[in-house]
Amino acid sequence: RSATDPVTSQGDLTDMVDSGKIIIHCQSSPLTGSISVPGDKSISHRAVMLAALAEGTSIIRNWLPAGDTLATLEVIRALGVPVEVAERSPHSWELRIEGRGLHGLRKANAPLDCRNAGTAIRLLTGVMSGQSFSSVLDGSEQLRKRPMDRVTKPLQLMGADIKAQDGHAPLTIRPAALYGVEYSMSVASAQVKSAILLAGLFTEDAVRVYQPGPARDHTERLLMAMGTIITTQDGWVTLGDAPLGGRRLLPLDMTVPGDFSSAAFPLVAATIVPQSDITIRQVGVNGTRIGLLDMLRAMGADISINNQQVTGGELIADVRVKFSELQATDVSGPIVVRAIDELPVWAVVAARAAGLSTVRDAAELRVKEVDRIAVLAGELRRLGVTIDEHEDGFAIGGPQHLRGAGVDSHDDHRLGMALAVAGLVADGVTLVDDAACMADSFPGFVETMQQLGASIQWVAVS
Ligand code: S3P
Repeated sequence: RSATDPVTSQGDLTDMVDSGKIIIHCQSSPLTGSISVPGDKSISHRAVMLAALAEGTSIIRNWLPAGDTLATLEVIRALGVPVEVAERSPHSWELRIEGRGLHGLRKANAPLDCRNAGTAIRLLTGVMSGQSFSSVLDGSEQLRKRPMDRVTKPLQLMGADIKAQDGHAPLTIRPAALYGVEYSMSVASAQVKSAILLAGLFTEDAVRVYQPGPARDHTERLLMAMGTIITTQDGWVTLGDAPLGGRRLLPLDMTVPGDFSSAAFPLVAATIVPQSDITIRQVGVNGTRIGLLDMLRAMGADISINNQQVTGGELIADVRVKFSELQATDVSGPIVVRAIDELPVWAVVAARAAGLSTVRDAAELRVKEVDRIAVLAGELRRLGVTIDEHEDGFAIGGPQHLRGAGVDSHDDHRLGMALAVAGLVADGVTLVDDAACMADSFPGFVETMQQLGASIQWVAVS
């Protein structure tokens, strides 16, 4: 990955540099100021897929042009859906998507490439299962290693004809009639729930999904904004029987909130760099996403939520965070799902807090972009951190002294950014290799951190 080998055919991710390395100096001054972060990745994937299936033109503002979401955009283009980028600033696009209706997609003449995006492939498996033509969903070598049976199994119960390679991509999907299902997830997963609900758009009878704890509900909120009735009761999420005349989706007119999972990096940085005081504006604070705030508050962090508003059915707010001395905490149970993507960067907080912090019930981390328990532990150790690995989590005592070193993202965007944040509180200099992947979810991460005064830079190409 580099500027000369762009992530997209149009070379959209212009903030990449050839070295792919970032350098971080131990932060000697507070982080201060007010920033915004790019649009929410989960919502950007869903908005594009649903807009493609709507009847009419959708307008999506502040859409996230990141590696993962651009994969979804290219897939819906390949399925014959016209997409116009009406406005383009470096990390925020306004899209106009001419929806083709639930039955208007066209067969693509090549496999649909989801690149590194787990959300893209799992949700699109639901959409493609309902089509009247065959398709193949595939992605990078990294994506091919991730388990797909969690979505193929429930979809097959709905009648879908999906052939996987020993539970993995590529997935070959052939036309089949879909019918309703009642499916109980053993582990709460928004991707599984969403794949079932999206396939449910092609059934006549109801689909019901049980979630043992809260998982992000963006699919439900978007479907409701598009005129579909979804009910949630006692853990069951229900898309009812199709109305007379069949299901239809109204087009979207929305603004994507800032991504809380991206905000997590500056937020954690300000919590641990002495005297910091920052505000992240207009960030999504949907309750299913902000487990990290609860965890940090339990540790004594100084966080305030201001200017709450609702946009496109989602709650947004300005999040202000100040440095404070933190105490250890234990994390387990349902909060893990509400903070799953933030656990790598939270590990850095745990290393700085007084006492022993633990995470359990997070085995899911082992099947993310990489094994986020093993790789995180290995890279943090290079920075001098003592961390114990468990099958389903980790334990870190603190406060620990971090030493700058060379580390590697292992091509995992969130690990790359978590290590960069660790570098801010590590003595000397930290180099994060393989850092271009940060643009999979947070294009402009380095520049955004620089706006707060963070000593992070791309290593220039000599
Ligand atoms: C996502 C759901 C989560 C999350 C992932 C994005 C989504 O995965 O970790 O980054 O957009 O639905 P699971 O649903 O597997 O928990």
